[in-house]
Amino acid sequence: MGLNVIMMGPPGAGKGTQAGQFAKDRGLPKISTGDILREAIKENNPTALAAKARMDRGELVDDAMMIAIVADRLAKSDVQPGFVLDGFPRTVAQARALDDLMDRLGSGPLIVVDVAVPEPELVKRLAGRRICSNCGTNAASLDATACGKCGGRLVQRADDDQGIVLERLRVYQQSTKPVLEYYRERPTFRVVNGAQAPERVASELNALIDHAAAAKR
Ligand code: AP5
Repeated sequence: MGLNVIMMGPPGAGKGTQAGQFAKDRGLPKISTGDILREAIKENNPTALAAKARMDRGELVDDAMMIAIVADRLAKSDVQPGFVLDGFPRTVAQARALDDLMDRLGSGPLIVVDVAVPEPELVKRLAGRRICSNCGTNAASLDATACGKCGGRLVQRADDDQGIVLERLRVYQQSTKPVLEYYRERPTFRVVNGAQAPERVASELNALIDHAAAAKR
């Protein structure tokens, strides 16, 4: 049975950072809906370009489009040993659709981890984040002058502008927080304190996921 993990949490909680490391360590595909959308925009995909205005305003892209993207991705054979989802589901409708999909695919239960971080820390992190204009990788440190992976120019992500960050946090409270309630009573739901050094978060997260995976058998 696959190790199917969902990394939940508000914007800036470190979902992408932790999902990337965990997926690499466990040899699983990381599926980030934000990255998929940004990649499709770079390739001038018309549907993604239509969604760009919503992303730039800090709003969510519509459920039908996001569900179709994830359904397509989870139909690929590399998810057989499991996957790490980052940024999906973000609404209760998406969570319900994912449950239906998992039933149809006959995949094992979902392990859901909420990466919890207080709001002032989220605002600070997102204000300081710089990403590579070429490959999208987060800058390794505030002092970095170029991308550590490809040498590309570092820029602020369009939706990390302070006003947009506040809107993303509002949308999170309104539309995504209820998803935590949708999952909370499941035996495979866990919360990790994301307001610690990334290595510390990773180590606690690994232990929580292993514990949840053992509990689901
Ligand atoms: P998405 O790309 O998913 O953005 P997000 O959820 O707002 O998440 P972020 O990437 O900002 O933060 P993160 O939690 O991944 O943190 P990170 O590791 O990068 O979505 C963007 C947009 O796409 C949405 O607004 C929406 O429009 C659309 N979209 C995507 N999915 C959708 C869906 N399912 N439905 C509808 N619309 C959808 O870290 C942040 C910063 O903090 C970095 O600089 C990092 O280096 C730093 N950091 C990380 N961990 C730590 C730590 N422990 N201590 C200190 N700093 C840390």
